[in-house]
Amino acid sequence: MKAIEIRNKYLNFFKSHGHKVIPSAPLIPENDPSVLFTTAGMQPLVPYLLGEKHPEGTRLTDYQKCIRTNDIDEVGDNRHLTYFEMLGNWSLGDYFKEEAIAMSYEFLTKELGIDPEKLSVTCFAGDEDAPRDTVAAEAWKKAGIPEERIYFYGKDNNWWIAGEEGPCGPDTEMFLDTGRPTCSPNCGPDCDCGKYVEIWNNVFMEFYKAKDGSISKLKQQNVDTGLGLERMAMLLQGKETPFDIELFLPVMEKLKELAKVDYIESRRIVAEHLRSSMMIIADGGRPSNIDRGYVLRRLIRRMTRHLNKLQIDLNELPTLIELYVETLKELYPDLAEKKETIKEVIVAEKDKFVKTLANGEREFNKVVSKLKQENKKVVDGHTIFKLYETYGFPPEVTQDLAKEQGFEIEMTEFDKLFKEHQEKSRQGSEQKFKGGLAEQNEQTTKYHTATHLLNAALKVVISQDIHQKGSNITTERMRFDFSCDHKLTDEEKQKVEDLVNEWIKQDLPVTIKTMKKEDAVSSGAECMFIEKYPDEVTVYTIGEVSKEICGGPHVTHTAELGHFTIKKEEASSAGVRRIKAVLS
Ligand code: ALA
Repeated sequence: MKAIEIRNKYLNFFKSHGHKVIPSAPLIPENDPSVLFTTAGMQPLVPYLLGEKHPEGTRLTDYQKCIRTNDIDEVGDNRHLTYFEMLGNWSLGDYFKEEAIAMSYEFLTKELGIDPEKLSVTCFAGDEDAPRDTVAAEAWKKAGIPEERIYFYGKDNNWWIAGEEGPCGPDTEMFLDTGRPTCSPNCGPDCDCGKYVEIWNNVFMEFYKAKDGSISKLKQQNVDTGLGLERMAMLLQGKETPFDIELFLPVMEKLKELAKVDYIESRRIVAEHLRSSMMIIADGGRPSNIDRGYVLRRLIRRMTRHLNKLQIDLNELPTLIELYVETLKELYPDLAEKKETIKEVIVAEKDKFVKTLANGEREFNKVVSKLKQENKKVVDGHTIFKLYETYGFPPEVTQDLAKEQGFEIEMTEFDKLFKEHQEKSRQGSEQKFKGGLAEQNEQTTKYHTATHLLNAALKVVISQDIHQKGSNITTERMRFDFSCDHKLTDEEKQKVEDLVNEWIKQDLPVTIKTMKKEDAVSSGAECMFIEKYPDEVTVYTIGEVSKEICGGPHVTHTAELGHFTIKKEEASSAGVRRIKAVLS
């Protein structure tokens, strides 16, 4: 079964079980600078898992584009991918374990035709935070999985959370037996010898883990599931690796044709990193030296190095990109529109890297001859860092070259120096993200106050259920994202604009008060993500129209804002609209 068929079957199956299909959110989280990329389908849904009402209801399904880069160095083996598509279904306080499991079982065995005999499942074994999940185990038995294929494991295997803090809970995971022999008497789904391959995860998200590590119950019992599309396609097609399925095959073959020397591992790395880079660029990512941009840069660099290793002419890149656009057009039709940009970005970054490589290699060779003279066998961390800092020579390249020349490398010192370096860049970028303000001056301060008025006006004109999802301010304009289930009509936009201008004209006073977070919330102050604020917060009140927890700064009277005009209203992501506005 091809990937597109699996995706369609999935969405249709859950649609027929009362789920609304929502669009994939972009790979680059829109209003959350704290995470680099969308790593799971649940990520854009966090506010709804925490209890906010989703405009599409309590049963949702989608395909979500995901990037996970903790695996970046393992790409090239036969299973890791940095980009993948996750199919998911969610219950937001609707069905729970039994129904979720019954649907998973039905989908796997009936829709995908997987032999029930080949399925094993794992459930949470229980600890001080949550009991042994006998409810899930019973549901599996009822569905048709015999007891001997139901395994219980602890938090390491059967508890899911994205990162350190957030909604979480015990999960139940489904595994397909590949038919290989067991590697030892203890071999089970938790063993990664390759006999069992995880195919789907159902998380029962009814807990919240706070920063301090404490776990509390959420308002509602949610289900969050994730099924990796490429892996499922690989298994259903009886292939050994994802690189053998139709999404990679044409590019893998083309690389083979172009390569003067063939290394399968290098072809996989090129095919994988090129696809990820294209997806990131299509969603607005650009190479840089920090955060997301650095991940993209690393992907393009690593790809370039392996093209070199395969002795493929780097001028073939646009052809490879064209081929991918064609190969992926059913899954991601928007790649075609963005094709030229994708080519430009990748080629420009490649060109830059080629120069860096030449300079760095020269320096590296000097280091090596010196080490040889001194009869040393180890390239130390300082040297690796110096090559990185002075010549932009990536540590992973130093690592590879060193290995090729029979040298050991000492990364601990490098990691330390690199961390310090990153910390410095991060502080710079955090400054930028602070409160969504790029620069704090008179003009941005005005825009900041205007976002509060706009937020309040939307509630009056459209609905009290509207909540801010993010904002971004420059000296030229403001951008405001908010939850809303429809495109605003011209009349609505006009009313919102008029109301903001009326409040400006009334010259309402803006006052500030420091209070305890709980008190602020109970006094009705608005805020975006309550968990993100310290215990003591500042609340800005504008006349009687707006009250928000906010770090400021703001003007003291609304008349300072001038005239407010909405320039644009558009979709931002699923259930989120975006307004661009200016003050004049
Ligand atoms: N959020 C869960 C996962 O990523 C479903 O595995």
